[in-house]
Amino acid sequence: MQKGRGKVAVRGWIHRERGSNKMRFIILRDVSDIIQIVIKKEKFGSQWDEIDKLQVEASLEIEGDIKPDKRAITGYEIDADKVVIVGTSDEFPIQKDLSEELLGDRRHLWLRSRKMVSIMKIRSTVIGALHEYFRSKKFYEFQSPIIIPGGAEEGPTMFEIDYFKKKMYLCQTWQLYAEAAMYGLEKIYCVAPSFRAEKSKTSRHLTEYWHTEMEVAWADLDKLMDYAEEMTRFVVKKVLEEHKKELEFLGRDWKKLIPSTKKKFPRITYDEALKILKQKKKMSVVWGKDLRTIEEEKLMESYDTPVFVHHYPKEVMAFYKPRDKDSPKTARCFDMLGPEAHGELIGGSERDTDIKELKKSLKAKGEKLEDYSYYFDIHSYGPIPHGGYGLGTERLIKWICGLDTIKDAIGFPRTMSRCRP
Ligand code: 4AD
Ligand code: MG
Repeated sequence: MQKGRGKVAVRGWIHRERGSNKMRFIILRDVSDIIQIVIKKEKFGSQWDEIDKLQVEASLEIEGDIKPDKRAITGYEIDADKVVIVGTSDEFPIQKDLSEELLGDRRHLWLRSRKMVSIMKIRSTVIGALHEYFRSKKFYEFQSPIIIPGGAEEGPTMFEIDYFKKKMYLCQTWQLYAEAAMYGLEKIYCVAPSFRAEKSKTSRHLTEYWHTEMEVAWADLDKLMDYAEEMTRFVVKKVLEEHKKELEFLGRDWKKLIPSTKKKFPRITYDEALKILKQKKKMSVVWGKDLRTIEEEKLMESYDTPVFVHHYPKEVMAFYKPRDKDSPKTARCFDMLGPEAHGELIGGSERDTDIKELKKSLKAKGEKLEDYSYYFDIHSYGPIPHGGYGLGTERLIKWICGLDTIKDAIGFPRTMSRCRP
């Protein structure tokens, strides 16, 4: 919508309407904005009856004169000369009741809301920026299969599918296949769906989410964290450049994102994190477990940018995360935690290429070694140090937009309790 003064033509949907028997005020929306339109009965003669019946979400084409008007919620008003009713609307089933249940059931209609439109615009920018970042760094985009024979992260969290009477699964990560491709392409990435049959009803778990993953040859832990930091900064900057209006509409205090565009993200070890939790936060935490949500949140209270926690206990980490030779109880891995209680955004690590170690870790986790024979094969021909990470794209969007739930970071969320519409 172009605003100014003079003759204009606009088209869109009725966002709100009110009126009397002499005139109607319509707030019309299109992808760009909303604008107030006044339709005066005296100008419309026999068409007035139809105009008078218009309901929220009817689609219209309007021609008229635009002028600034302080009383109009958008600061401008169009005095209509011509109204074309493109499509009428039934009574719109989203009115006063904005409960999560109702909006979930009517997600296909709620996507028209200004809230969802704002988030989906930002989401589009985030995903575009991720591609732009990796391509600018000369990464190749590589796709892995979605239907796979076995796991990578945690066996029980896989969706099983009936594949011509054989058991197969939906992928949780692109990683193991990416490692195969890395031996040819060296620097690769993807933005693709991952699936987790997690029975977690939390504000940060989806069963289907968009996983931004990367894998790099010759990279060590520090290099991987450098990429994660630079990528995150790049995306946040891009959103701030393009979407202050949307962030404000969402009630997001976007100034809270600025430190992440400027400051270096702190890097602390798991041991240091435990020390902070014990000493500063007076929490009783035991060495040897992954950090829990509450611990991540408490830890992040002291920071205004994401923080890397690295060197988690080896035994509770995925089998491919290598033991650190100088600190053998820990693995060469990291999580990047988001500020403002948004939790783990990224998980990454160097990769173990020691086949004996890999087999030992897999056995300890009760996995069948034959499912991984291709993976051992990958590392049997000229193994090199390499590593990568995975970003929960919706978690990044949730943090950037300041959303209460990850469900609003995706068009049609899939969770344990919601798979429709
Ligand atoms: O930490 P995760 O499980 O790591 C991996 O899958 C590695 N194979 C990635 C790699 O190195 N290529 O998952 C990575 C990220 C998490 O940090 C989190 O942000 C997100 O994926 N994630 C989820 N996001 C939404 N819903 C879920 N259920 C998620 N599970 C993980
Ligand atoms: Mg993780």
